[in-house]
Amino acid sequence: MKNTLFIEGGYPLQGQVRVSGAKNAGLVLMVASIMAEGETILDNVPRIKDVEVLIQILEDLGVRISWNRDGSLSICPPSSGLKTQTSYELSKKLRASNLLLGALLGSQGEAQVSLPGGCDIGSRPMDLHIKGVQALGAEVDVEYGYIYATSKERSGSRVYLDFPSVGATENIIMMAAKTPGQTVIENAAKEPEIVDLANFINSMGGRIRGAGTDVIKIEGVPTLTAGRYAIIPDRIEAGTYMIAAAITGGEILVENVIPTHLHPIIAKLQETGAQVEEVKQGVLVKAAQHITPVDIKTLPYPGFPTDMQSQMMALLCHAQGSSIIVENVFENRFQIVDELKRMGARIKVEGHTAVVEGGTRLSGAKVRATDLRAGAALVLAALAADGVTEIEDAGHIFRGYEKIEDKLKSLGAKVR
Ligand code: UD1
Repeated sequence: MKNTLFIEGGYPLQGQVRVSGAKNAGLVLMVASIMAEGETILDNVPRIKDVEVLIQILEDLGVRISWNRDGSLSICPPSSGLKTQTSYELSKKLRASNLLLGALLGSQGEAQVSLPGGCDIGSRPMDLHIKGVQALGAEVDVEYGYIYATSKERSGSRVYLDFPSVGATENIIMMAAKTPGQTVIENAAKEPEIVDLANFINSMGGRIRGAGTDVIKIEGVPTLTAGRYAIIPDRIEAGTYMIAAAITGGEILVENVIPTHLHPIIAKLQETGAQVEEVKQGVLVKAAQHITPVDIKTLPYPGFPTDMQSQMMALLCHAQGSSIIVENVFENRFQIVDELKRMGARIKVEGHTAVVEGGTRLSGAKVRATDLRAGAALVLAALAADGVTEIEDAGHIFRGYEKIEDKLKSLGAKVR
């Protein structure tokens, strides 16, 4: 039963909640740390399952990692003899393990990276990652579920991404950071986590400009020197608690956020009628009396994040009218629909589009978290539903939300 959450709905959530460090920034910064000489100390790394798995993957490569008393994470690669083959058994649990491709090519000149696992939200190919590292001189073979790459002779180059893939942009940045010459990434991803990666590498002596825009320029440097760095707050965790206020008729002060990172989410929440105010400590969200339906299109940043789509769908089940959600980033992100339907939701899916008919009061049911964000959406739906909801496979939720049970309880939720 360890992987099951029981939630009794119907209680408006009130109070304040502190957002943890960003999962997606934490994971890539941990990986980038292995490119540095010396011990990196990262502050704000969330204590979540994905981080635990990545620690195991890095330790398996020979990296020494420990949690410090002040909650920071120390990462120290060996001065020589870092393994360059990632374990298949561990990598299949974590999509972000594919980021070792760029970090190992950049620091060791070779990488054997297993094709990664993670959330089952679509085919998630790696062609753009491979195209990027090949442009910088890597030779790549894909066989038996592994990517084999070597980069004996490499130099900076121009890479155009057909789609602004977050992971591909990160892999290319990491390899280019230590590849001689200038690399230019065009149509790069602009997510805040990309900016955090660039700032982190620059804090170690890297030379990256333009992160946060769609053209990133990287001058390779021979050495990166480890230091101390604090990870940005998690905008998706913040958005999830903001919706928790809106869906339960509550009022929550979400602390430790960078409001600009939340603007795409704030804009849509305000359209639903929720009051969202930027205050000194964070953002204050007050639920609307009546939820207005809105249309959502997921897009790369600064568009509406695909990682908030399921949570928004849960909210829109309560709107007074129909909303249309178009998923443009991952093809398989409507698995949540069948689970919400068990709770009484009325949703129709046609290809990449879902029509959510609002006006239903959801009721508790036995449901299953099919992926991380679907799991978060079920938690939200359960908080607002009549009766008790039993969420199976809640392990998916713990992959990405630090202390979710404690945080929800502190806001008045009935969770166990
Ligand atoms: C990252 C985030 C994930 C988020 C996603 C989009 C991490 C660990 N995960 O995932 O939470 O939902 O960004 O914001 O940071 N694609 C290709 N070829 C490629 C690479 C990607 O076609 O080589 C496609 C994917 O199939 C998908 C789209 O591009 O349809 C976006 O993927 P991408 O931005 O790469 O997401 P991830 O980096 O996997």
